[in-house]
Amino acid sequence: MKKVALVTGGSRGIGYGIVKSLASTGFDIAFNGVRPVESVQDILESIKKMGVDAIYCQGNIALSKDRKRILQQVKKHYKKLNILVNNAGIAPKERADILTASEKSFDDVISTNLKGNYFLTQEAANWMIEQKQKDTNFSGSIINISSISATVASVNRGDYCISKAGISMATQLFAVRLGEFDIPVFEVRPGIISTDMTSGVKEKYDSLIENGLCLQNRWGTPDDVGKVVSAIAMGEFPYSTGQVFMVDGGLTVPRL
Ligand code: NAI
Repeated sequence: MKKVALVTGGSRGIGYGIVKSLASTGFDIAFNGVRPVESVQDILESIKKMGVDAIYCQGNIALSKDRKRILQQVKKHYKKLNILVNNAGIAPKERADILTASEKSFDDVISTNLKGNYFLTQEAANWMIEQKQKDTNFSGSIINISSISATVASVNRGDYCISKAGISMATQLFAVRLGEFDIPVFEVRPGIISTDMTSGVKEKYDSLIENGLCLQNRWGTPDDVGKVVSAIAMGEFPYSTGQVFMVDGGLTVPRL
């Protein structure tokens, strides 16, 4: 029987890149998003055409009741979960200097990017532990999509940077806690990736990239991230729990 992967925010951008890559390597897919099910029918069909099963689990991961419902839906349909990919995330609505940025923006960004991921992980981890205790051959893992913003300071989106630094620590915490159950937890840290999230700052990044910001002289793509996530999900890194995988074209290599 195929393994099952749940990808939050999986209907577009990096999440959809991850979904396609996981489906192409044979995972059955549950993907989550905030849009109503009617608006993701084409995506659902495109995944099924890859020869795997797929379901859409609508819900806002910032809300406790929605997180429970998302996992219930996976449980009902597949009766198991092998891989959780915490990808859903938002940028602040406005990029604002940390000397003036609002508390509302902080709450919104932290609720989705950090609290949502953290408590979905808690709930999924408990289910994975149950599955492992029933079947010692069960293999589960958790992959968190953070960002170079976990360590690169941008003073016009402090809330976002803090949320991603938090995901980094959450990765280590759950890696430690789930070690005894042989459930590895990983962090994938993308750089500048071409998606809806970055479309508003395209010109700025075009020019930075042209001027040598990255060692690989191009934007990253959702597929670049998808390939790394699916390699991890397939178990290609069996002795690396708690570690960070960079997907940033060398942007964070220190230079002098
Ligand atoms: P995107 O805006 O294109 O897609 C984000 C997806 O997450 C959307 O499908 C959206 O509906 C979903 N989502 C947002 N809030 C949600 C919520 N509360 N509950 C459920 N789903 C929700 O963004 P993109 O660029 O694909 O980003 C995906 C992840 O990668 C995010 O966590 C982002 O912070 C991270 N990232 C993005 C980078 C980039 O350059 N685009 C770079 C580094 C990290």
